[in-house]
Amino acid sequence: MAFIEINGGKQLNGEVNIQGSKNAVLPILAATVLVNGIIKLNNCPKILDVFHMIKILEAIGCIVWWEKSSLIIDTTKLNTSTVPEEYVKMMRSSIILMGALLGRTHSVTITYPGGCTIGARPIDYHLSAFQDMNISLEEEDGLIKCTTTGIKGNEIFLKFPSVGATENVILAAVLASGRTSIINAAKEPEITELCKFLNSAGAKIRGAGTETIEIVGVEFLYPIEFTACSDRIVAGTYLAAVAGTGGEAVLTGIGGDSLHTVIKLLREMGCSILTGENYIIIASSGRPKPIPFIRTMPYPGFPTDMQSQFMSVLMMAAGTSKIVEEIFEGRYQNVKEQIKFGADIRILGREATINGVPELMGCEVYASELRGGAALVIAGLMAKGKTTIYNPNFIERGYEDICRDLRGLGADIKMLA
Ligand code: UD1
Repeated sequence: MAFIEINGGKQLNGEVNIQGSKNAVLPILAATVLVNGIIKLNNCPKILDVFHMIKILEAIGCIVWWEKSSLIIDTTKLNTSTVPEEYVKMMRSSIILMGALLGRTHSVTITYPGGCTIGARPIDYHLSAFQDMNISLEEEDGLIKCTTTGIKGNEIFLKFPSVGATENVILAAVLASGRTSIINAAKEPEITELCKFLNSAGAKIRGAGTETIEIVGVEFLYPIEFTACSDRIVAGTYLAAVAGTGGEAVLTGIGGDSLHTVIKLLREMGCSILTGENYIIIASSGRPKPIPFIRTMPYPGFPTDMQSQFMSVLMMAAGTSKIVEEIFEGRYQNVKEQIKFGADIRILGREATINGVPELMGCEVYASELRGGAALVIAGLMAKGKTTIYNPNFIERGYEDICRDLRGLGADIKMLA
């Protein structure tokens, strides 16, 4: 059984390049099936979720191969619209293939994705939007079968700006007849990136990054080469690590724009941060200041994907901080591991109160989801002595090589088998 071992309590100093974005690349990989041809995706991160997505693409007839950090996808031999159950269970975000497969083949069969360790994560918005686009649904024995005589554009109102539902509607609408408007769309930078990819391939999408997205259906998409943006959550994780341990680091390959809220709060904690178009420099002198109130919100608010990492940093703040988790109720399951470091955290419903302690002690902990796992790595770096983190595969779902990157910043961290 693999595990991560950290000898913590050291400052981080150095430079790290930020990998390609998981949440941009996954929907783009789904979108490749809308193209009948060969797509080259540059800056594709080598993470478990991408490997799972490759397996699904291969299972439906695509041919996929790596050329260094570029992924090449040949979709010409796509031969089924049934997504194998084992992969849907492995990776919930495989449901973004629904819209793309409907666009390409006018049908899709997929297992109901079910629960997940960070909360219920239903897909009702996705399904009701599909129904409004002339797509019929049948649910039987945990399988969802969608078919259409032709996808028709429509006005889709999302009750909540769901990232996945916005992506699924965009993917279904690109080759549909007529115009689709998404009202209350998600504004995350990864949505903008997906639309950039689709528009370079010939789609007609306007308004990405705003709350109204308009898609005018086109006949077909062209094969293209595209370079994915870097991962703002990986960058945010490393910034949080430096904020927690103290030190000075340069992150390259990413600017500060998509991290505006994260950087603002890090400054409130006492960090000095400089940003350019393609770099972020952070300096932290040690014990962070507490943050009286953080609420996770859809973009441009504070991201739920950074909540656990910030909680780890605030465990050593000089005072009391509060976090309200508004997006995924199950994220606090990670707190039972975080308190093993000696942290003082109280949970009441969606609200967490973190009373900062002067020092954390290394311990043995278990990762049970991606960002929660990254938060345990940060706590291990901040803590005195040895920390062992089991189930690192959850972290590898989204981080190419977290140990390599943090060793580059001078951390004493390694993966052991
Ligand atoms: C995506 C991201 C994930 C991030 C999340 C929120 C990917 C691959 N994953 O997940 O990293 O944490 O956005 O920024 O991009 N909801 C419903 N019904 C639906 C859909 C969503 O009730 O049909 C609810 C969810 O339970 C949740 C909220 O809406 O409370 C937000 O979910 P959503 O934005 O859809 O997240 P994901 O797309 O799953």
